[in-house]
Amino acid sequence: MTTTDPTPDAVEMASMQEIIGRADANDLAEILAISNTDVHATIRAVADNADAIFTWNYTKGERKPLDKLYEKAKTSQWNGQTDLDWSIDVDQEQVVAANAAAGLGIGEDTDLSGTPFEKWGDKEWIELGVESQNWMLSQFLHGEQGALLCTAKIVETVPWIDAKYYAATQVMDEARHVEVFAQYLDTKLSGHYPINAHLKALLDDIINDSRWDMTYLGMQIMVEGLALAAFGMAFQTTPDPLLKQLLRYVMSDEARHVAFGVLSLKEFYDGLSDAEMLERQEFAFEAAIRMRNRFLQQEVWDRMGVDVKKALKLFDVPDEVKNQDPFQQLLFSKIVPNCKKLGLLDANDGWLRQRFDTLGVTQFEDWVDTGEEYELLDEVAKDRAAAEAESA
Ligand SMILES: [Fe+2]
Ligand SMILES: [Fe+2]
Repeated sequence: MTTTDPTPDAVEMASMQEIIGRADANDLAEILAISNTDVHATIRAVADNADAIFTWNYTKGERKPLDKLYEKAKTSQWNGQTDLDWSIDVDQEQVVAANAAAGLGIGEDTDLSGTPFEKWGDKEWIELGVESQNWMLSQFLHGEQGALLCTAKIVETVPWIDAKYYAATQVMDEARHVEVFAQYLDTKLSGHYPINAHLKALLDDIINDSRWDMTYLGMQIMVEGLALAAFGMAFQTTPDPLLKQLLRYVMSDEARHVAFGVLSLKEFYDGLSDAEMLERQEFAFEAAIRMRNRFLQQEVWDRMGVDVKKALKLFDVPDEVKNQDPFQQLLFSKIVPNCKKLGLLDANDGWLRQRFDTLGVTQFEDWVDTGEEYELLDEVAKDRAAAEAESA
C-alpha cells in the first residue's frame, strides 16, 4: 500500500447487513431462503454498467508478466474435440460406488435413525450420488459461462493493451471449457441443473459492477481461485478417466487465468487508498460467503424430496454454517494466498483476515500463490514435450 494515512478510523466499515444482505452470514435458514425463480427461462440479461475502453497505447510488452502470459496462452491451446477421448464410456453408478468405496460420502457407521435417510437403501444412495454429480458438473458449466462473459467484459474495460491481448486468449479458453463441460453433461451424465441461486447472485454482482478491477477480483481471484482448487480435488478423486483428462487440461488453463488476476491487480492495488481497498475486501468476503453457500447443494435435496435442513444436519452442517469441514476449507487454498499477495488480507488492520478467520481458512495464507504456478500446471506443454521425445 502506498497510502500515507493508514488511520482505519477514516475508513467507513460497512455492516454485515450491507455487505451480504443479512445480519448473520452463517444463518442457515436465511441462506436456504435464497432460491431461483426463473429456472425455465432460456436467456438471462444482466446489465454490465461499464464503458468499453479504447487505448491508443499499442506498446506490446509494456507489462512484461502479462505479455509472457499471453505468449504462453497462444502456445498452450488445446481442442476439446480432438484432445479428449470422447469414446470412453462413463458408468455414473460405478463412479458413485467407487467414490463411496473411497470414503467420499456418509460412512457406513453413521447412525441414520430419526433422519430422512432412515429407510434409504442402496438405490436411493446411488441416486443421491448421481444427482450430486449432475449438480456439480452443471454448476461447473454455469460458472464457466460466467467466466466467458466476465473475460469478454475485461477485454472491453481494461485500459492496458497487454491485458486486452491476454484476456482475448482467456475468452477462447472459456469457450472451450463451456463446450467440454456441456458435452460431458449431455453425453456422459444423466441430467442438468439450473444455476445455483448463490452462484447466480455472485455472477450478477461481478457483471453489474462498473469498475474494471472488480471483474478481475470477482472472477479471476475468487470464482476461478475456487474453481482451480475444486477441479484439483475432483481430478484427484474421480475414477472416470475422461473427466480426469478433461479436468487436467481445464486446470492448466485456469492456473493462467488466476495468474492473470494476480498479476494485473497487484499493480493496480498498489495505488489504492485504504477506503478503496476496503471496498475490495468487502467484495471478496461477500463472494467467499456466496461460494461457500452454494456447496450446500440445496437443489439436489429438493430433487431427492428430502427436507434440506434435516439433510444438512446429517452432514454436520448446524443451524449456523461455520464451514469447519476440511474438504470445504480446501476450496479456499488458492484464494487466500492470492488475497494475501494482493494486500487484501492485511489492509485496514486485517479486516479480511478477521473475516476469513471466521470461515476457518486463514491457515492457507502462506501456501503458494498462483502468480507463477501456471508454468508448473501447463499440461499441454508437458504432453507436447513427451510426444516429441517419443518421436525423436
Ligand atoms: Fe474456465
Ligand atoms: Fe477460467
